[in-house]
This record gives sequence, structure tokens and C-alpha cells, in this order.
Amino acid sequence: MWRIAHAVISGLAVGAGSGILANAQSIPCNGIDNCTSPFPNTTYPAAVDPNAVPGAQSGQISPPFYPSPWMDGSGGWDAAYAKAQAFVRQLTLLEKVNLTTGVGWEGDRCVGNTGKIPRLNFTGLCLEDSPVGVRDTDFNTVFPAGVTIAATWDRELFYQRGYGMGDEHKHKGVDIQLGPVVGPLGRAPEAGRNWEGFSPDPVLSGIAVAQTVKGIQDAGVMACTKHYIAYEQEHFRQVTESSGYGYNFTGEYSANLDDKTMHELYLWPFADAVRAGTASIMCVYNNINGSYGCQNSHTLNYLLKGELGFQGFVMTDWGAHHSGVSSALAGLDMSMPGDTAFDSGQSFWGANLTIAVLNGSIPEWRIDDMATRVMAGYYLVGLDKNPIPVNFDAWTTDTYGYLHYIASESYGLINEHVDVRADHGQQARTQAAKGTVLLKNTNNALPLTGKEKLTAVFGDDAGDNPYGPNGCSDRGCDNGTLGMAWGSGTANFPYLITPLTAIQNEVFSNMGAIEDVTDNYAYDQISALARRADQVGGVSLVFVNADSGEGYIVVDTNEGDRNNLTLWRGGAELIANVSSQHNNTVVVMHTVGPVDISSFYDHPNITAIIWAGIPGEQSGNAIADVLYGRVNPGGKLPFTIGKNRPDYGTDVLYRLNNGTDQPQLNFQEGVFIDYRSFDKQGIDPIYEFGYGISYTNFSYSNLKIVGQRANNYVPNAGQTKAAPTLGNFSTDPAGYVFPAGFHEVPLYIYPYLNNSDIKSASNDSDYGEPANEYLPAGSQDGSPQPKIGAGGGPGGNPQLYDVFYTVTADITNTGKVAGDEVPQVYVGLGGPDDPKVVLRGFDRLTIAPGATATFSAELTRRDFSNWDPVSQNWVISNYTKTVYVGSSSRKLPLQQALGGSSNATAGGYGTHAPAHRMF
Ligand code: NOJ
Repeated sequence: MWRIAHAVISGLAVGAGSGILANAQSIPCNGIDNCTSPFPNTTYPAAVDPNAVPGAQSGQISPPFYPSPWMDGSGGWDAAYAKAQAFVRQLTLLEKVNLTTGVGWEGDRCVGNTGKIPRLNFTGLCLEDSPVGVRDTDFNTVFPAGVTIAATWDRELFYQRGYGMGDEHKHKGVDIQLGPVVGPLGRAPEAGRNWEGFSPDPVLSGIAVAQTVKGIQDAGVMACTKHYIAYEQEHFRQVTESSGYGYNFTGEYSANLDDKTMHELYLWPFADAVRAGTASIMCVYNNINGSYGCQNSHTLNYLLKGELGFQGFVMTDWGAHHSGVSSALAGLDMSMPGDTAFDSGQSFWGANLTIAVLNGSIPEWRIDDMATRVMAGYYLVGLDKNPIPVNFDAWTTDTYGYLHYIASESYGLINEHVDVRADHGQQARTQAAKGTVLLKNTNNALPLTGKEKLTAVFGDDAGDNPYGPNGCSDRGCDNGTLGMAWGSGTANFPYLITPLTAIQNEVFSNMGAIEDVTDNYAYDQISALARRADQVGGVSLVFVNADSGEGYIVVDTNEGDRNNLTLWRGGAELIANVSSQHNNTVVVMHTVGPVDISSFYDHPNITAIIWAGIPGEQSGNAIADVLYGRVNPGGKLPFTIGKNRPDYGTDVLYRLNNGTDQPQLNFQEGVFIDYRSFDKQGIDPIYEFGYGISYTNFSYSNLKIVGQRANNYVPNAGQTKAAPTLGNFSTDPAGYVFPAGFHEVPLYIYPYLNNSDIKSASNDSDYGEPANEYLPAGSQDGSPQPKIGAGGGPGGNPQLYDVFYTVTADITNTGKVAGDEVPQVYVGLGGPDDPKVVLRGFDRLTIAPGATATFSAELTRRDFSNWDPVSQNWVISNYTKTVYVGSSSRKLPLQQALGGSSNATAGGYGTHAPAHRMF
């Protein structure tokens, strides 16, 4: 039960207080500088829902919400909205439908393609993966993966990488980049696609996604933030995929979670993406509380378009579309890739959407809203100016081929091999080096000088894939160094600089000696080389990895999700072998997430450990920069590394748990994932979230918290305008059949009817049944609707982002070399059901030796709030809030209580230097 006493800032709470409630109280300023009212207007009745069922349960349901909110141009979309409306007003119904439906898998040159509007010279939209660069082409950059850029904790690099990726998509002729990823967030450490996203922490993810979206869109293409929402594992995400692996069940898994967990954890970074202006969002394969992600009126209509005020459009994941009318009414705007099953020639939309509008199942305002949302995204990022035609083909790298691949039609030039990389390779090197995390460095074993007598390099993770860097389709193997994991979240390498190559170059430049063994199982050769390196006082560098990916590829029996947290290809044995021979063994790990390091991390012969993430094409150069001290490591872990697998408290559901029915993935842990879980359980990890050391040292002092003036929270209220309709259309089906003489590309999805009898055109045996029997209540209603209290702007009620406090602290570089430090600010929300601490801000500072820099962060209303399912709004509880500043989630030397007791202790967080006294 998460029954906490709330001071409801909305004042809208319903439900009487019960005996368990603390009295409502006001939180005083307690003498904080400039603080007139730290938590303004905080004396409110407490709220509790006597019927609230907390946590996640099998069979949980998703409440309906209709009608689908229509776009209104708020939050900076007004100009794009006006242009989109003007465009859509000119369209016929068929043309509107063409904007919403893909042409079918492999129907045109991109991984997704909308229909065209030739009359207006609109050539259709090109949608292309991925979150690391342009997929399915050549002469593109492979940027570090999300998990690695997250480890930089550097806002500017988040943006730079986003801009670089967007720029490359733009110059390939892509309109919509299918990234970034904040779903999966990282509930289960083994989940296959966590590496595509940033971090299991919603604030780190939220800041990273917002900066990435801004970067991509400033470069002139639409971002698609995905996968919305609660897509936290690969197993059972698609029945067809899983049946190929021998599972027998009837429905994709249902991720079951309560409203508080939804808001405080999984929805949080999506709110940031919406606030940053993401033009599109991709809905998921799985169900959320029993309802498919792409026809879930609660998650799409209520949360995304209602509460978060999302102005862009929602597209399906590829194959996540399961219905015609109901998905449209539930808030879906675009079907991708457009066909029901790949290359089936059938569609839930296309002609069926035309019919659904003609017969009134889908109101005119809804199709107008769908088309307007798509075009608003287009105008928002300036695609109308300087459009670049598609110059590559996703289905082959051949220069000449068919424009319509699956139909083998229209032969011509399809790949122009445009080099779009500019100087992004250098940027990717810096990004990867700055995302490298130094975990252990005994007696300054690192940095290396380059003059080691003998450098011994071990592990196939140091070297080349014998098949070539792109030798495994969608990187579906673990051969050679792990520059990228597998699945659709990949791109082709223009080169992959291996660690071995870069380290060899380093050693050659010093005329030193280097030998390597890249066969992990050549035990005798490995121990012989390590022994020699030991005897001459050299260094042994051991490269190991752990891989994972998307569910459609299985690598070494891992069906997307990892089977376990062990290092791959005998990595732990390799480390044991080398470290048994050499007392200066350095371990470098390329992994998609946490791994089991318990067998070696504290071995005395292992002098240094580095987590080098999933670094992309510049892998070798980046690790050499760190090993040889050109870059002083400043990355911090974006996740926790625990001692034992059960310590994480969450795991993948690997076995069907509901007979042959939909598997139930219950998020019983609520908001307690990663460090929040370790803290709650009182389990010490090996390396905690936010941890990472440097070649220098830093000290923290002088915490100051200055209260800012913020207005009382006013729930959004009033009514929307009525839904606009744009233009007219004839309801005579005869006007919607294929034009005479029209050439149909085989398997291509069109908006046209194949005859003027709607019943037979629909090929639906039930057609003609009274439509309203099937239509959800309210779904047709285009009249003004009540506004949602927690809404009011992109990302929710704008007042959630009011700054309550400015936090500053002094960070001093106490060592001898310049270095980067990432001070982190955490908040303890204080309630018995709150995590001990939650990250709320950070900054990456470069500090000269002996110098002191001031860290500054702003804490907003949202940062101090809990979600209240009763009032359906954010509230601030009566519990004492505490602000902490430090170098990781467990090294928080500075702290200050706000309100309540002035000398609260963090309990179990190590040494507490006294905070600067504010009271
Ligand atoms: C399925 C993946 O889940 C999604 O992330 C990707 O964008 C599409 N396939 C298109 O490749």
C-alpha cells in the first residue's frame, strides 16, 4: 500500500482522510535564503483513495478515455499547427488517409513510408531507424548507444549527438528518425533493448531524451520517441515471434502497473520528450494493463494527448497495430508499416480507414486531427523548407534496384551512397570517451604511459569480427569487439576501430612491445603471455563483453533479453586466467548493462576496471584516449552493478505464467527499480548508480539552497474548444474507388476502395451491423471537453516546472590533473513509500587542479511531488523533504532538510560532511 498522507496542492482531492493519515500541515520556510514560501499553498486536506489497489496485478484493467483529444497548437506548436491546418484543409479524404497509413513493408525505400499526395507535390514521409545513426545504409556514423551517452551525464553531448544523428538522417532524405528510446526504461537489467535507451533513472533518461529530441529536430527531422510505454522486455512481445521460439500463447504480454508507478517512473521521461517537442511517439507491441499499447485509450488519449498535451502524432511499432476503428478512436494517428502482417497487402487502415470515415465510425474531426498532427510535426521541424529526397534504400545496398522492393517494380538508381558523416566521427570519439566509466584504479594503475615494457591484450572483445564489422545482419552475433548490440536499433559501421588497433597504434608510436591473444579459449597461450607481461613489469589489458538486443534475433540462446548477467564468451574465466598470472591486470568491459563482476572486482591483481559501454564506431580510439590519459574519465554509471542477480529485485519474465493466455508482467516493485530497489532493500551494490572515479579527486562543500518564489498550483481547468473539421468530403463511395486505369503496385497499401459497395469493399462479414454497438461511449464527441487538471501544456501542467529552489555547492579538484566531475542532486521525498533518494539534477563540470567550481541545479515543483491517483494530480506530501548533493546515489556528503526537522540524516549514505547551515 502506498497510502501516504498528502497535502494536495490541487485542492481537488476526493475521499475522506482515514485514521492512518498524518494531519495536514504547512511546511515552513525554515530560514532558507530568499524563501518566502518554499512549498506555497501547502495546507490542504489529505487525500486517499479507500479503494486504491496499489502495485501491479494480473488482470489489471486500463480505464477507457474518450474522445481522443484534438490538437490545439499549444506549447509552441501554434505556427506549425496553423500551417498544418491550411495544408489539411486542401486535402481530400483519400489524401488524408494517405498521410496516416504506411504503404506496407518493403513497399518503398525506407523502413516505413507513408502514402503520397502527388497533387500537392508531397512525396510521402520516409521513416527510418535508429537511435544510434541512420540504419540500413552506408557512409553514416555509428554514434555511441544511448546507455553510453547517458554515462557522460553531459547535456551538451546529449544534444550534440542528437543533432549529429538528425543531420545524417536529414541528408539521407529521412523525415522521421525512429529514436530516441526511453522505453524500455530498464526495469529488468537483462532486458534486451535497455542499451538503446539511456538509464533506469527517469530523470537522467528524461534530460537525455529531451536534449536528444531537441538536437534531432534542430537538425531538421522529426524525432520519434519510443516505445510508449512499459515495453520492458523482449520475451512475449509478439506472439508470432515467440511462437518461432516454441512458445504457445495467444496474446502479447500485459505490463501491469499502477498509476503512481506510471507517473513517477515510466511516464516521466516521456513527459520530458513531449515538453521538448517530440514530433512523434511510437506505441508498443505489448499491452498495458490488459489493453494493447496502440489502442489503449488510457495511455494514448488520457495520459499522452490529454495530460501531457502531446501535439504530435502516434505511430504504431511495426506489427503493433491490431484494429481499425478502435485504434483510431483510442488516439493512434499512423499505422506502420501499414500492412497487417508484413507484405500481406492487407491493412487495418488504408481503404478500411476511408470506409470507417465514410460510414461515420470515425468522425471527420478525428481523421482531420490525425492528418493535422502529422503535418504539424513536418512543419515544426521545417521539412517544408529545403526538403532532401530519399537517396538510399533500406532493403539493399546495391546501387541499382527496385524502388518497390517487395513488388520488384520500378528499377533504377536506389542507393546514391551519399556520405553524410561530416565531422561526426570525431564527435562520436569524444562522446564515447566521455561516457567511459572508471570503476577501480588501485595505486594509479591508470593512466598508462605508453612506455610499458610489454602491453599484453586479451579477449576477442579487443579485436575484429572475422566476418567484418557488419558481417552479422543487424549485428546479430557477438564476434569481436562489441561496438553495438543487436536489432533494429543499429546502423552499419563505416569502420569499427577496435581497441586492439588503437592500442597497437599507441604502442607503435612509442616503439614499445605489444602482443595479443584474442581467442578467449586459448588458455595456455593466455596464461603464458600474462606471465611474461608480469615478469617484465608490463600491463595486461583484458577486454570482455555482454550483449543483448531485440527479440527477433537470437544470439547464443538469448532471445533478445539476456539469459543472465554473466560476461559472454567465457569472460570471467578469461579474467581469472590473466589475473592469476599478472598483478597488473586491467579489465575493460563493453556491456549493454550491469554484469556479474563479483568473482573478480576485488581481486588484488586487478588494478583497474573500466565500463566502456556500447561505444559505437570509435570504440578503440575512445578507450585508448582514456587508458593513456588524454581523456580523464568523468563518466558515471547510468545503472547499478550489484553483487548478485536477485539483488536487483526485478527480472525478465522468461516463462509463460498464464497458461496459453496473455502473460502477465506485474510491476510489483512499483517505483523501486535499480538504485531505488537496492536502497529500499538495504542491499549494498558493488558500484552504485551515479558512481565513477577519475584520475584526480574532488571534494564537496558549501551547499546552499535558495528558495524561489513560486505561485500556488492551479489545476488546469475549463473546457477545450470544439474539435475543428477541415474541409468537406463526399460520402458517396463511388468517388473513392481506384481511378480508371490506375496501376496498382502489388502489395502496396492504398486508400482507395476496390468497388463502390462498401460492404464488399470492406471484406467484413459483420459490415452493416449498427456501428454504435461497437463504438466506445464518447468516442464520437467533438464538442468542448473538460481539461485535465494535471495538464495544460506539453509535459503536463506548466506549473510543475516552476522552480522552487536553486541548489549550489562547491566542487574542488584536490588532485594534480584537470578532470571532470558530475555533481548530482538527489531529493528524499520523505514518505514511507518513497525511495530513500531520487535523482533530480546533475551537471558535468571540468575543473582545473586546485580549482573550485560551483555546481548549480534548479529543483522544480515536480521534483518534490508525488502522483496522487485520487485527485489525478501531483501533490506534495507532508513529509520532510531533504536535498542531497554528492558524487553518486550513495556518496552524498552534503545534505539539507527542507521543512520539518532541520537535522535529518540520510541514514546509510556514508560520511556526511555537515551541510552549510541555512537555518
Ligand atoms: C520494431 C522496433 O521495435 C522499432 O523500434 C523499430 O523502429 C521498428 N521495428 C522499425 O524497424
